[in-house]
Amino acid sequence: MKKILIIFAHPKFEKSRANLALIERLKDESHITFHDLYEQYPNFHIDVNKEQELLEQHDVIIWHHPFYWYSSPAILKQWQDMVLEFNWAYGPEGKALEGKTVMNVITTGGTRDVYCSEGYNSFTVNQFLRPFEQTAKLCGMHYLPPFAVMGTHTLSDEDLENYANQYEVLLDILKSDFKQDALTNCFFVNDLPILSN
Ligand SMILES: Cc1cc2nc3c(=O)[nH]c(=O)nc-3n(C[C@H](O)[C@H](O)[C@H](O)COP(=O)(O)O)c2cc1C
Repeated sequence: MKKILIIFAHPKFEKSRANLALIERLKDESHITFHDLYEQYPNFHIDVNKEQELLEQHDVIIWHHPFYWYSSPAILKQWQDMVLEFNWAYGPEGKALEGKTVMNVITTGGTRDVYCSEGYNSFTVNQFLRPFEQTAKLCGMHYLPPFAVMGTHTLSDEDLENYANQYEVLLDILKSDFKQDALTNCFFVNDLPILSN
């Protein structure tokens, strides 16, 4: 069974509705590690050795965060800057992450229709996430399309419940010997029929 590391970054988790709905559903299972960066490192002093060990112990990495200023909250960038070291994550000796799978799980205030060339956000979410995608590529990881919960302010409790169900199914697929291709040909993995069981 594959081991999944959820690297979670939300500076105001106590006020969260959308991410809370997703995370409340996580079961206490031995193959899933839920790792809350703001709780662990309120002063941004990332323990690089610990983070690298955690990454080495897992097969699938999830960057789970609300979309803030078209990217992630700041601590996830700090985490990348500190943890993904030359000759560990990339470079001639940097093979630690090679072959692992990684993806973003995000929530956005903006609805899906505003994230396109004609919409007021001009670009798609997938385009905004390119730095994550290319970081994964540089580190030899397989980057999957994001799981996106969009238009959070207009979602009902039932909508959020449905997304939480899909997240649960996604985690079940990720722990299995899933075929990478089955999750790649889409904008968002939550568009795939296999997530709506
Ligand atoms: C500082 C800040 C920046 C934000 N930037 C964006 C953004 O760039 N695009 C967007 O769609 N929503 C943006 N939002 C809205 C959040 O993404 C949204 O409130 C969040 O995903 C809801 O999840 P939660 O209920 O778990 O907090 C921003 C919110 C804050 C507080």
